[in-house]
Formats: sequence, C-alpha cells, structure tokens
Amino acid sequence: MKLCANFISTVVFFASVSSTLGSPYDSASTSSSGRDAVEPRRASSILINPAAQPDLPTVQAATAAASTVGLNLSDIQGDVLIGMKKKLELFYFFSIQNATAFKSKLKSDILPLVTTTTQLLAVSTQPITAVNIAFSQTGLTALGITDSLGDSVFSGGQFKDLTNLGDPGSTNWVPQFKGTGIHGVFLFASDTQDKINNTVSSLQSALGSSIKNVYSLQAAARPGAEAGHEHFGYLDGISNPAVTGFTANPMPGQAIVATGTILVNETGDSVKRPAWTKDGSFLVFRQLKQLVPEFNKFLTDHAIVEKGLTAQQGSDLLGARMIGRWKSGAPVDLAPLFDDPALGANPLKNNNFTFQHPDAILATNQTRCPFSAHIRKTRPRADLGIIPEDLANQIIRAGIPYGPEVSAAEAASNTTSTERGLAFVAYQSNIGKGFQFLQKTWADNAGFVHPEVGVDPIIGALAGAQRVVSGLDPTNSTKTLTLTTDFVVSRGGEYFFSPSLSAIASKLSV
Ligand code: HEM
Ligand SMILES: *[C@@H]1O[C@H](CO)[C@@H](O)[C@H](O)[C@H]1NC(C)=O
Ligand SMILES: *[C@@H]1O[C@H](CO)[C@@H](O)[C@H](O)[C@H]1NC(C)=O
Ligand SMILES: *[C@@H]1O[C@H](CO)[C@@H](O)[C@H](O)[C@H]1NC(C)=O
Ligand SMILES: *[C@@H]1O[C@H](CO)[C@@H](O)[C@H](O)[C@H]1NC(C)=O
Ligand SMILES: *[C@@H]1O[C@H](CO)[C@@H](O)[C@H](O)[C@H]1NC(C)=O
Ligand SMILES: *[C@@H]1O[C@H](CO)[C@@H](O)[C@H](O)[C@H]1NC(C)=O
Ligand SMILES: *[C@@H]1O[C@H](CO)[C@@H](O)[C@H](O)[C@H]1NC(C)=O
Ligand SMILES: *[C@@H]1O[C@H](CO)[C@@H](O)[C@H](O)[C@H]1NC(C)=O
Repeated sequence: MKLCANFISTVVFFASVSSTLGSPYDSASTSSSGRDAVEPRRASSILINPAAQPDLPTVQAATAAASTVGLNLSDIQGDVLIGMKKKLELFYFFSIQNATAFKSKLKSDILPLVTTTTQLLAVSTQPITAVNIAFSQTGLTALGITDSLGDSVFSGGQFKDLTNLGDPGSTNWVPQFKGTGIHGVFLFASDTQDKINNTVSSLQSALGSSIKNVYSLQAAARPGAEAGHEHFGYLDGISNPAVTGFTANPMPGQAIVATGTILVNETGDSVKRPAWTKDGSFLVFRQLKQLVPEFNKFLTDHAIVEKGLTAQQGSDLLGARMIGRWKSGAPVDLAPLFDDPALGANPLKNNNFTFQHPDAILATNQTRCPFSAHIRKTRPRADLGIIPEDLANQIIRAGIPYGPEVSAAEAASNTTSTERGLAFVAYQSNIGKGFQFLQKTWADNAGFVHPEVGVDPIIGALAGAQRVVSGLDPTNSTKTLTLTTDFVVSRGGEYFFSPSLSAIASKLSV
C-alpha cells in the first residue's frame, strides 16, 4: 500500500474536473448557492453509524442545545464534535510555500469548501466531500500570526514532545513528521475514493504552488461488519464525552463535559486566549501502526486459563481485558467472562458502568476489569473518587483506521508485512490536559491508577523498554505479564489548531 501518495498523478488524472472548484457539490446538482443550500446532493451519508455508537444529534436538537450556551455550530469545523464516524478520510499534510498567495486562496477557495458541524448532521446538507483544515504552530507563524495560543505543547510541536509520549526516539517516525516542516493538514472525508480524489485535485489546481503536499495518509472504515472496529478487531468510538451545547441526549454513563473542554475560549477553558481562537480546537494527529498478527499470536500464547473456558475463549478474554471491552463493544466490567453482543450493540447500556460494584472493593478488586485496561487507564471513571468523575482530562476521539485488512499470509506467519493502524485524531481545548495527559500521565504510568498495575497494554509506551502489566489474569491479580513487543508503534504525528470558520475568514486570511 502506498502511504505516501504522490498527488501529482492525481492532478493530471483529474485535470478535466478542476472546473468544479468552488462548488463542493456533484456537477449533477443544480444547487450552487453555497454550503447552506437546502437542495440535497447526496443519496447516502458520508458517515458510518454502528448501532453501538451513540447517534449524532439531529440538527434541530443540536441547534437547540447550542442556543442554551450561545454556541454557533455553523462556525465550528465539522470534524471536531462528530467522533469516529467517517467512511473514508484522507489526511493531506502540507507546507506553505507562498504565504501571501495562500492567505488569499484560503479565503477565496478553501473557506467555501470548509464543512461545518451543522452541515454534517443531516445527509441533505452534507457536501460531496467534507473538507476541514488545521494549522501547526509553524504554519500559523508562516501566516504571520504572532499571537500565542496559550498552549505550550502545541507551540513546541509533536516532534519535540516525543519523549514525553514514551516514543522510543524517532526511528519509527514517518520522516516528514520529524521536525516542524508540516504547516497544516487538510482532512477530506467522503464515501468513495474518487470523490475524495476529485476534491483534492480541484483544490490543488486552485492552490497551485502556494502549498506543497508533504505527506498523505489515506484512511478508511474497515469493510462490512467490521465498520467502526479498529484493526485489532474491537469496536471503537463508543465512549466519547457528551459536549454541552452539542450532545442533546447524553447516553447513560457518558461523561458530560463543558463546552470549553473541547472548544477553545468557551466556558470551561480557563486559559486566556486571543479572541479569534474562540470555537477552535486543538487537533492531535498520531499515525499509530498496529501489529495485528503479532497481537493475535500474543493472545493465543498467553490465553487466560480459567475453569469453563476453552483455549480460544481464554485468548479472547485476555484481549478483551487488555482493552476493557470485547470486540462487540461490550465492557468487561459488565460482561466479565464472555462477549455479549446484544450489550455491545446497545448504546443505552454499553457505557453505563463505573468500575464500582457492591460486591467488590474498588481500590483492589480487578476481577471484572484490570486497572491497566486501555479504557480504564484513559478514563478511570469512579477510580479517582471524584464525583461524578474526572472531567478535566477528556478528549473527542475522531480517528479512523488506515491500511488493508490482514492477509491470509500475514495471519499464517504471525507477522505484519503491510502497514496498518489507527490514524488517531483527538480534539481538546488543552493538549496538556487532553491527549498528552492521557498518554503520559495515565497510559504510560505503571503506577496509575494504583501502584504497580503496569502500563496500558495497548498504548502504554516506555521508550521501547519491555512493559510489565498486572491484573490481566482474573484468577490471580498479582500475576504479571511481560509484553516484549509494542503492538502499537508510534509513527509520529503533529499538533494542529482547527480554527473556527470566522477565524479563517478574518484573522488567518488577511
Ligand atoms: C492504535 C491505538 C489505539 C487503539 C487500538 C485504541 C482502541 C480503543 C478501543 C477499542 C476503545 C474502546 C471503544 C470506546 O470506548 O470508544 C478505546 C477507547 C478509548 N481510547 Fe483508545 N485506542 C488507541 C489509541 C488511543 C490513544 C493514543 C488515546 C489517548 C492518548 C486513546 C484514548 C482512548 C479513550 C479516552 C477511550 C475512551 C475511554 C472511555 O471513555 O471509556 N486511545 N480505544
Ligand atoms: C455563525 O457562524 C457562521 C460562520 O462563521 C456565520 O456565517 C454566521 O453569521 C454565524 N451566526 C451567528 C448567529 O452568529
Ligand atoms: C507569492 O504570491 C504572490 C501573490 O500571488 C505573488 O505576487 C508573488 O510573486 C509570489 N511570490 C513568490 C516568491 O513566488
Ligand atoms: C486516488 O488517488 C490516489 C493517490 O493519487 C491513487 O493512488 C488512487 O488510485 C486514486 N483513486 C481513485 C479511485 O481515483
Ligand atoms: C475569550 O477570550 C476573550 C479575549 O481574550 C476573553 O475576554 C473572554 O473572557 C474569553 N472567554 C472565555 C469563556 O474564556
Ligand atoms: C444504568 O445503570 C444504572 C446503575 O446500575 C441503572 O440503575 C440504570 O437502569 C441503567 N440504565 C439503563 C438504561 O440500563
Ligand atoms: C471481587 O469482585 C468480584 C466480582 O465483582 C467478586 O465476585 C469477588 O468476590 C471480589 N473479590 C474479593 C476478594 O472481594
Ligand atoms: C503462529 O503463532 C501460533 C500461536 O503461537 C503458532 O501456533 C504457529 O505455529 C505460528 N506460526 C508460525 C508460522 O510461526
Ligand atoms: C499469583 O501469581 C503470583 C505471581 O506470579 C504467584 O506468586 C502466586 O503464587 C499466584 N497465586 C496463586 C493463588 O496462584
């Protein structure tokens, strides 16, 4: 698979359609009255909608919720609050070559294509290809922005932060992520590859040499019944926080966060920021390679031995306990020994738990869910003794898998030969409290949430050192397991700021 696509060929191939620029809609559509045109131009949604993931609010419900806090959902880029629901998404990283030319194109050619939150909520208002844009610190600097955004993690860039994240140096990093050469990223989302290519090529013709494509990563929801599942096989995107002013009907057990936990300069964001940053959000991008056949071999080789379980069931149980959920999405806290697909598929029940049970001591008993489980490390719920729970360290996850399905040859050899993984995206108003905190202070910390529980067996990283995890065996919680392989390998990434549409129209393009 080609991870680093060269779009020159795309430009040539689609040269004939570059005249559709300025309209994100099908040429068949008669509508050309801009992004709020009511005439539908899609027959089906850009988004997947697995039963287990909470539905998005209707536009009416979201607008009503927004009005209670004075939020303008048409000013917020569409990806920020939507979560892990895209069918196909292209991450197109660029550098700015001519800031004067780029700023003028930003207003005339890019802004009209930028998809809003409101637009994505109904198929009838979705564009053919959704487009979002975000800038790194060096990108903002290239545009002549001298204001500090008040986030030192963002301004340093991700390359400088790699030690904090537990990465074993940068040897596994995609070369283009090393340093600060990436100025921005376009997110293109649609339901077919040709629609994405089409939009990319027309935008490239418009932008000409004002930018240069530095790197691209094409990502896609997995096929068929695996849609919504990450490459290890577990359903993802179940537990994103409900954001005040957007989520109309929080699901039982969903964390409810202040608007300003995700959106900059809104209630709950305590940092002083320049006024133009309002309703933007920091976008963390990480290309996380997943060693799937190797992970599966590990589960087979270390199957949990418990009365009444076959070897396969013991192996499935180990995997579920490492994540904290079964492949269906059912939490091990509520389904401790076997998967329960009906529970997994029910968003009214699949997030309704706290790790606290009347028959177990919260601080010591990990029979149901290991303290080190990925979902317990990244959202400890009742473990911290905070009522209702810790709400300061929450993110919206909006990533999507990339790379092909595991081939028969890879499965048979227990060895990855073609890269696949998670194009991880997280939105938050503060990277040091959001992504960086979850990775560094919780997942990588063997002493969180209690001493000696070990690191998160999925994403915990100790600069390449082998990882010791306890609590995975429900029959003996002091037994440890040593993970000699990192099944998730950081290929690096960058920190971006996803500005509001009004910031693009004013501060960034003039
Ligand atoms: C390849 C890497 C990763 C894989 C395979 C993965 C997989 C999963 C899965 C299967 C879930 C359960 C579904 C859900 O609750 O929505 C989950 C939840 C979650 N993950 Fe990850 N994840 C990865 C990376 C990350 C990273 C890097 C972070 C942040 C540093 C993160 C933070 C979270 C959070 C906050 C939750 C929700 C926990 C909850 O609310 O209960 N994940 N992940
Ligand atoms: C909401 O934001 C959009 C995009 O910036 C803008 O056109 C519109 O006027 C705003 N609406 C209100 C009520 O401020
Ligand atoms: C940058 O773009 C501007 C506006 O299009 C143009 O006038 C100028 O010549 C360009 N500069 C360079 C170095 O190409
Ligand atoms: C889309 O563009 C990529 C990168 O240039 C290319 O590899 C792929 O074949 C194109 N797909 C379609 C359907 O045009
Ligand atoms: C937003 O920023 C402005 C300008 O810095 C500031 O006056 C205002 O208090 C901020 N609002 C919030 C909710 O943070
Ligand atoms: C959620 O869990 C609580 C406490 O266990 C229970 O009382 C409630 O009925 C559950 N809600 C649903 C929809 O199952
Ligand atoms: C731990 O919790 C499980 C299930 O919640 C319970 O059955 C068991 O008795 C508890 N163990 C101890 C030692 O309290
Ligand atoms: C793959 O791993 C399984 C489980 O350990 C083992 O039985 C099998 O022999 C391995 N295959 C190869 C080709 O090494
Ligand atoms: C639990 O595991 C520890 C560490 O491997 C071991 O020392 C202990 O004997 C085990 N306990 C039981 C009851 O098997």
